[in-house]
Amino acid sequence: MRPDLSAASVRLDPADIVGPVHRRLFGSFVEHMGRCVYTGIFEPGHPTAGDDGLRGDVLDLVRELGVTTVRYPGGNFVSGYRWEDGVGPVDRRPTRLNLAWHSTETNAFGLGEFMHWAGRAGIEPMLALNFGTRGIAEALDLLEYCNHPGGTALSDLRVEHGDPDPYGVRMWCLGNEMDGPWQLGHRTAAEYGRLAAETARAMRQYDPGLELVACGSSGRAMATFGSWESTVLEHSYDLVDHISAHAYYELDGEDLGSFLASAVDLDGFITDVVSTADAVGARLGSAKRLGVSVDEWNVWYLRRHMASMAGSDPADWPAAPRLSEDDFTVADAVVVGSMLVTLLRRADRVQAACLAQLVNTIGAIRTEPGGPAWRQSIFHPFAQAARLAQGAVLRCDVRSPDTPTARYGDVPAVDAVATWHDATGDVTGDATDGLGGSRLTLFAVNRRAGEPVRFEVDLAAFGPGLRLVGATVLADADPAAVNTQAEPDRVAPRPHPDAALTGSTVQVTLPPASWNVVELRRD
Ligand code: AHR
Repeated sequence: MRPDLSAASVRLDPADIVGPVHRRLFGSFVEHMGRCVYTGIFEPGHPTAGDDGLRGDVLDLVRELGVTTVRYPGGNFVSGYRWEDGVGPVDRRPTRLNLAWHSTETNAFGLGEFMHWAGRAGIEPMLALNFGTRGIAEALDLLEYCNHPGGTALSDLRVEHGDPDPYGVRMWCLGNEMDGPWQLGHRTAAEYGRLAAETARAMRQYDPGLELVACGSSGRAMATFGSWESTVLEHSYDLVDHISAHAYYELDGEDLGSFLASAVDLDGFITDVVSTADAVGARLGSAKRLGVSVDEWNVWYLRRHMASMAGSDPADWPAAPRLSEDDFTVADAVVVGSMLVTLLRRADRVQAACLAQLVNTIGAIRTEPGGPAWRQSIFHPFAQAARLAQGAVLRCDVRSPDTPTARYGDVPAVDAVATWHDATGDVTGDATDGLGGSRLTLFAVNRRAGEPVRFEVDLAAFGPGLRLVGATVLADADPAAVNTQAEPDRVAPRPHPDAALTGSTVQVTLPPASWNVVELRRD
């Protein structure tokens, strides 16, 4: 019999584990950019906000999204930020220029408000340090303010500001995108590497257990990509735990095929960062291996953003302007899903990731001032992965027909990953969803824009007892469909019309340009 050329298949084995599902993979990012903070997470007077000014409707959606960690306060913003401006009595806080985003920063929301928000949202804070206009002294001051219990000038200041308990921030980004000429205080790799190393050394004198992230390249397309990582890590390898990578993708004209295959580039990017970091480790004779923190990733219509910035009045410095508030499409959601597949599949090295950003600005959640909040299309794959990816990531080598793309050549049409929580003795990662039983979840994307692909998953290695308990698909006859205030649930996962478990094989038809989730359970 001739093989069916439009079918993909994979054989899964519960013993073939890539690594644990790192909960920090489901991080996000709140920057003082546009309306992410103001009228995003924070809007005093909003009908759902209490005395703290935090929007309750947004908090509910953040919890539903399943975000575990949030990076704050930037982004490009942090490279000109004075954290002291955002603490203490609000009426004494200065209004400043936000040079990164050509806007005005009132500082009505700052560190204390963020920590309070993080507590209410149930997320771990991840703070970024200003390496643009500031240096070691200010980083140490912020560390003391945040983490020291009391009895020193800055820890007592925090107590005076109403927070007696230290914040206990563990994960710190040593600057942001310091390779980018757009960054305030942009440095050469050697300059940055030295500063990162000396700041890390100083911070570790206070607490050797901190987790520190060195800035990698702000994109794989940077001319300095590779050499930047290499030089920075020559200086800082032994002093940091992770190297960052930032990845944004957008639909270029009509080229939907290449756009749907964006995760091919992300996968190659991660491989390159890991190889470069490991080469430095080898050269230094170090047994240590660094993690990769993909602490900014998403679909971002950057060209549109640049055009709108170029067209704005240079004399105008608005507070909380509408920046990069694109309505995400079905295709965008499929790309975000496929990036999640990649991030999970690289769980051997990717230990943290932040969907950039959380609200309004490139956000998974959209709000109207004084009005409602709703889920963008990209909210859904993220929320499903955060909730259903539990335990360990299994190796998932899919045999797939190819699909042609203009940018990446022929790429596999189907991309997939599986996670397995074995209730009888999982040693690779605990389930965090509180459900009993063993659970297998399969996440699969069809990157073909025009044709469905049949997908067969062989589960014989799991033995008897698995039941299919759910299957959903996010796809649409119109890949440009979006959620809006008037139609907030236009794009959402729907029950899968065509997923079945026969014997030990799952068979599912993946519609064109689709994100699919299949859940199995054993009691
Ligand atoms: O997330 C938006 C911006 O993208 C961030 O401020 C910056 O770090 C990146 O270039």
